[in-house]
Amino acid sequence: MPAIKWFPFWRHIPANSKFTVLITCGVVVIVVFTLKLFSELHFAVQRSSARGPSCAEIQQGHDRLMASVEFSGGLGNIMFQYAFLYVTSRAHGYEMVVPSTKELDILKEAFEIDTSSFEKTDWEKDLTARCFDVIEDEWDCAYDPKLVEKSRKNVHYKGYFQSWKYLVTYEDDLRQIFRFRPSILNDAASVLQKTIASRLNSLNSTDVRPVLVGIHVRRGDYLDEKEFVDFGYNIADYGYIEKAMAYFRRKYSNVLFIACSNDVKWVKAGFGTTADVFIVEGNSAATDMAILSLTNHTIMTVGTFGWWISFLTNGHTVYYKYPFRPGSLLGEQFKGNIDTHIYPNWVGLEGDNSNLMNIFTVRSP
Ligand SMILES: *[C@@H]1O[C@H](CO)[C@@H](O)[C@H](O)[C@H]1NC(C)=O
Ligand SMILES: *[C@@H]1O[C@H](CO)[C@@H](O)[C@H](O)[C@H]1NC(C)=O
Repeated sequence: MPAIKWFPFWRHIPANSKFTVLITCGVVVIVVFTLKLFSELHFAVQRSSARGPSCAEIQQGHDRLMASVEFSGGLGNIMFQYAFLYVTSRAHGYEMVVPSTKELDILKEAFEIDTSSFEKTDWEKDLTARCFDVIEDEWDCAYDPKLVEKSRKNVHYKGYFQSWKYLVTYEDDLRQIFRFRPSILNDAASVLQKTIASRLNSLNSTDVRPVLVGIHVRRGDYLDEKEFVDFGYNIADYGYIEKAMAYFRRKYSNVLFIACSNDVKWVKAGFGTTADVFIVEGNSAATDMAILSLTNHTIMTVGTFGWWISFLTNGHTVYYKYPFRPGSLLGEQFKGNIDTHIYPNWVGLEGDNSNLMNIFTVRSP
């Protein structure tokens, strides 16, 4: 038996046992392979059940292409992501697939969005990688015409989509969609009412209803966290807010400013004793947004929270002209300018410090 010459003990095995040894070896080999096959099958079944249903099963019952979006960030970011998904789905007839994540809860807690038709599964985890084309937004704060092209497959969008140009044909729809829940609206209206009442008394101007201008001052993390500063976020200074208030005081004879901020201390230090400024604090983000959107016009500083306040208020908007440090990574997200991020009819004003490269020195911890 030359084939098994390499087995050194072969020749010591008695000739009449050789057959039994061969059979035993054969049986062992067969058993081992069968066990291995079964265990692989078992893991494959486990893997596929962790992955969820097949693409065909997913498509079942959906006669249109589906579009989904990845939520991330705070209220302002989530609103842009939802708005982009809505708009692109309307434009191309996609079926909207909204992931049931904590971000959707933030939207649902703020707005009267009808979520009855939304999928309950966590689409992001289960499905999108296999059955959806993933399309990423390269310029989070600028318009990209590539993103609005019609897809030939189910599509999952990732990014921030922060351009008015995506939304421009569906603005009325979006103002309907982002209607605040009655409880939030009532809270906001009563805060506003009290504010106006107290000021009207002290200003003796009960005869003329004031024009209300909301001020949203975004500071906090943009200033304190090194990674934000390094990334290129700018914030507005007192000079900008003074100029913006002067703009509205010139425009209207009887103006009252309502200010909200994530840095109320800073706003109080600057405007706490200004007669026509009322600083509102201690409310949820959604209530702040509702209060300011009930005013007639908007002074925003930077960030998407103020952007949406301006959009929902739908009056005159003044914004801070330099939301990013020139040459920064954030600047790249804007494609170098704010033209497709900020509506053309919004008015940009500067602060006192125009030498932007030098104001925000990174503080080491
Ligand atoms: C408000 O009116 C009262 C009484 O008419 C007057 O004494 C007071 O000076 C007025 N206050 C202001 C701020 O105009
Ligand atoms: C300003 O807003 C208030 C509160 O929403 C509203 O009652 C009023 O009519 C508005 N005024 C103008 C001039 O638009």
